[in-house]
Amino acid sequence: MDIPEKSLKSGFHMPSFGIGTWQMGGRLEYNPANDDEADIRAIQAAIELGVTHFDTAEQYAQGYTEELLGKAILGHDRSKLFIISKVMDINMRYDDVLAACERSLKRVGTDHFDMYLLHRYVPDVPMEETMRAMDKLMAEGLIRNIGVANYGVEAFKKAQAATANKIVYDQVHYNLEVRAPERTGLLEYCQHNDVLLAAWRPVQKGALLVNPPAILLEMAKKYDKTPAQIAINWLLSQENVVTLAKTSNLEHLKENLGAIGWQMSTDDIERLRSDYPGQQDSSAAVPLG
Ligand SMILES: NC(=O)c1ccc[n+]([C@@H]2O[C@H](COP(=O)([O-])OP(=O)(O)OC[C@H]3O[C@@H](n4cnc5c(N)ncnc54)[C@H](OP(=O)(O)O)[C@@H]3O)[C@@H](O)[C@H]2O)c1
Repeated sequence: MDIPEKSLKSGFHMPSFGIGTWQMGGRLEYNPANDDEADIRAIQAAIELGVTHFDTAEQYAQGYTEELLGKAILGHDRSKLFIISKVMDINMRYDDVLAACERSLKRVGTDHFDMYLLHRYVPDVPMEETMRAMDKLMAEGLIRNIGVANYGVEAFKKAQAATANKIVYDQVHYNLEVRAPERTGLLEYCQHNDVLLAAWRPVQKGALLVNPPAILLEMAKKYDKTPAQIAINWLLSQENVVTLAKTSNLEHLKENLGAIGWQMSTDDIERLRSDYPGQQDSSAAVPLG
């Protein structure tokens, strides 16, 4: 299937749905008991089904996740893939950003990232220093776009003021339950300032799907979709919002892809926004910086 793209007025565009890799190969540390083959197979199955957008980070399993992604994409046409990685918060100094990116590129086995993200806002390091390194990576063609993750509006403005390159993307915790981007004005800011907001954890690691509330079941019935498909489509149906879900399970992968290519009515999007129970104002996992 063709995954629809979302674009900015600046001309930047990317696939609206991608596959995340958090928990592939381990969590913060490499897990020797991880089923690497299952993760690699899932990424390859996703590519066969039309997914081109993959998200990883140097922090995931101490770089091992990037290696798994590299193994999975080996032999695929790199020009058709959109690969994102992230520099972690301890590497925000100029030389560290450059070295981290080089290591990540090597692990993934690619000569560029389509987008490279600052994983978190780190107030202790001058933004100008970090961005000088990002600008150098851009100038050298090692990264094609600059993005950030877990940045609130003020941090985003600070980052944008420190680079002549346009920051096209902010990846934050956002789903039917976790509403920090709405509550803080970040979603509106992105929509008004030509920035894509990427919603990480769209199914709240599966928790949204365990005993779904009545409104989610009602929407699933109305659209003849599953609760996971409603949760993902609710994000994709919103202006300037893209999302990425992790799965190593082929049935989940197919289910999640069923969230794409159709549109919920505006009334239903807004009803879910206002009536979905148990909404949280901030992320307990990674709060906005
Ligand atoms: N920038 C950041 O700080 C940040 C933070 C967190 C995440 N992220 C990125 O965003 C991606 C997505 O977030 P996430 O992985 O935390 O959460 P998620 O995509 O909401 O959930 C992934 C979990 O839900 C399960 N799952 C997925 N689809 C399912 C379905 N249809 N039915 C039942 N279970 C399903 C997966 O298990 P199975 O594998 O068994 O399907 C996995 O355990 C990450 O992988 C990562 O790339 C970024």
